[in-house]
Amino acid sequence: MRALQVRLKDRSYPIFVGRDILSRAADVLNKVKISQKHAIVVSQKEIAAHCQWRLTDALAKGGVEAAFFLTPAAKSSEAAKSQGTYFKLIKQLALLDGKGRSVFLIALGGGVIGDLTGFAAAVYRRGIPYIQIPTTLTAQVDSAIGGKTGIDLPEGKNLLGAIYQPRAVLSDTALLDTLPDRHWSDGFAEVIKYGVIRDARLFSILEKNGKEGIRKNHRLLEKVILRCARIKARIVSEDEWDKKDIRIVLNFGHTAGHAIEAASRFSREVTHGQAVAVGMLIASDIADSLGVLKDKTLTGRLEKTLLKFDLPLFYKGLSTEALFRAMGYDKKKTDSGKNRFVLPVTIGKTAVVSDVPTDVLTKALEKRRN
Ligand SMILES: NC(=O)c1ccc[n+]([C@@H]2O[C@H](COP(=O)([O-])OP(=O)(O)OC[C@H]3O[C@@H](n4cnc5c(N)ncnc54)[C@H](O)[C@@H]3O)[C@@H](O)[C@H]2O)c1
Ligand SMILES: [Zn+2]
Repeated sequence: MRALQVRLKDRSYPIFVGRDILSRAADVLNKVKISQKHAIVVSQKEIAAHCQWRLTDALAKGGVEAAFFLTPAAKSSEAAKSQGTYFKLIKQLALLDGKGRSVFLIALGGGVIGDLTGFAAAVYRRGIPYIQIPTTLTAQVDSAIGGKTGIDLPEGKNLLGAIYQPRAVLSDTALLDTLPDRHWSDGFAEVIKYGVIRDARLFSILEKNGKEGIRKNHRLLEKVILRCARIKARIVSEDEWDKKDIRIVLNFGHTAGHAIEAASRFSREVTHGQAVAVGMLIASDIADSLGVLKDKTLTGRLEKTLLKFDLPLFYKGLSTEALFRAMGYDKKKTDSGKNRFVLPVTIGKTAVVSDVPTDVLTKALEKRRN
């Protein structure tokens, strides 16, 4: 088991990464001084089916009794981040707590479960402890770290939220064994992002080994997750509240990526990772047009690497107007150029550029349409 620290003064917390470390959950609680003996484990049926009893046993070793809150089955996992589920969770929390038991929360799932659980922990009695046990690659490298929590409203995603740090993150790579293939690719899009923004060595590992090479090699997978977690931890330590132009680098590929996701939200064909993959290429194309890109081999290397992780190089069919609209431009203001992009300079280095001219953006969007 390897450990690293998110440094945030009195809110600092450890991240543990390793294979089969779920069995050590009680040790982790002990280390971070969670003394509550009642846990509500928030999860989904599909996930709990594989590890509910292992976690229950592991917690029992520390005298912790676990009750499970499993989000209702739905077509989309995102549906669990709703007001309905949120209040059901809060009610179960109040019920247990009302019996005079001090309770803490455990998020056992992907980003959806992590965001929901973290937000309940942030708000219930103005804050109770919670830990993250991420079960998707995306959550292990990204969403479980950094304390961004929240739920969706019918009006939009993540509209209710808080920054509230967990007390620990326990990333057991064996939990990923049951993760469906496309969620691996989604997670790897974020991993590739870390390589481009901060870690040339990580990028080379990805480039050399590809999806299967990493997935099947437990040690290498652990190393890759650890490198990503370290980058995220460092960025969060430097800019917890997202105010200093540091945390924004995590948005690399996400500006155009979100627009692709939003504009195709009815088709459900595009996953977040696929949209980010194309978004990273759009950012590279913009960087090239603006003369920001110093390493002329970067776009080609990024394309080849994305393909090795079953990620696309193009989006399908969306009009440039629809993408502009999704980026918040309205028809009258398309020339105001109000936007902000994280652009690659070399592998491992980025620049934040505001007001990318509309014609440059249009050209990059059109180049990546299939
Ligand atoms: N808080 C943050 O900083 C942050 C960062 C990135 C994304 N997010 C949020 O995270 C969410 C996406 O998270 P995600 O990509 O992890 O998806 P997810 O939580 O929807 O999980 C993906 C699917 O995989 C299933 N699953 C998860 N783990 C499994 C396992 N081990 N075995 C079998 N099936 C498993 C889930 O049931 C779900 O259907 C979005 O809501 C997004 O807004 C938050
Ligand atoms: Zn993302």
